[in-house]
Amino acid sequence: MRREVKGLILAGGRGTRLRPLTHTSAKQLVPVANKPVLFYGIESLAEAGITEIGIIIAPETGGEIRAAVGDGGRFGISVTYIEQDAPLGLAHAVLTAERFLADAPFVMYLGDNLLRDGIVELVDRFRTEQSDALILLTPVPDPENYGVAELEDGRIVSLTEKPEEPRTDLALVGVYMFTHAVFDAARAIEPSGRGELEITDAIQRLVDSGLSVDPHVVTGWWKDTGQVQDMLDANQLILDDLSPRMEGELIDSRAEGRVAIDPDVVLERSTVRGPVIIGRGARVTDAYIGPYTAVGEDVTIQRAELEHSIVLAGSSIRDLEGRIEASLIGRNVSLSRSPALPRAYRFVLGDNAEIAIL
Ligand code: TTP
Repeated sequence: MRREVKGLILAGGRGTRLRPLTHTSAKQLVPVANKPVLFYGIESLAEAGITEIGIIIAPETGGEIRAAVGDGGRFGISVTYIEQDAPLGLAHAVLTAERFLADAPFVMYLGDNLLRDGIVELVDRFRTEQSDALILLTPVPDPENYGVAELEDGRIVSLTEKPEEPRTDLALVGVYMFTHAVFDAARAIEPSGRGELEITDAIQRLVDSGLSVDPHVVTGWWKDTGQVQDMLDANQLILDDLSPRMEGELIDSRAEGRVAIDPDVVLERSTVRGPVIIGRGARVTDAYIGPYTAVGEDVTIQRAELEHSIVLAGSSIRDLEGRIEASLIGRNVSLSRSPALPRAYRFVLGDNAEIAIL
């Protein structure tokens, strides 16, 4: 018997580790290779044949997520938005969605996670097997920063959130499959030291109640884009699989390697060395854009060098002497050298901004 599976994407949360971008915007909408990270998750679920998807949103950033995703029609899915009053934990988010999910088994997908190989086979397995939960694991070098699983004979024995002394290097990937048994488990647990209802505790509860929780170790890469370096890493991983295209105009310019250039882009006296993606309407003049860079729509780059970075829509970078690298630059940022005297640095920086100058 095949079970009908729903989807639940978590796109609420605080996003404190991605400030200052998250002061004004949802972290799930930060683009990776010029596409909001959230869209990769939606596409993964749609590809696995899941059409009814609930999206958990926060009061502050929910409007922006609604505007970006709409009714889900263009992804071939139907979206129900579920507002979570406060980010009280992943298990709290599950409880918030109980009415939407009802009795259906479901895939819970963290809206800032990327999983290279998708979840088609795993969802199929979950549809046909009768297990109560299926969790995805992957070996990581720094398990103390993740939920960690301990296995015995291929079965889960324990799960711990960010353990100080991890017993294994198997981290929980941000994709989980549950049946409605998880609601009782989430209701039975207490908030953790950081004041959240932890999904690891809820899953531990399922294990302790003798329910079947199947582990699956994923082999393709997985990225949680919660921090700047993770965003840049994810950008690199996605750009590694980029399909080249050239829809813009090159004037006395060179595009080498895997480069995707959207319509209405003009490159003048510039060199672009892929993998690089440049969004519609961008102007690149007397500039160098190096590997693993994503330039958003309507960005201007003039007499500057840039690599291994993400620049969001509408920003401009002009007249810099040093090369920019490993940077995440928000929307409508203006970065330039000023000829005005006295010669000095002049900044208007938002809270939690990070600047490193030569
Ligand atoms: P996290 O990255 O663990 O939490 P966060 O967004 O609060 O970030 P930070 O630690 O930097 O402050 O969340 C994983 C995903 O789940 C992310 O897409 C946000 C979402 N989420 C919710 O929807 N509700 C919640 O209560 C929490 C904690 C997270």
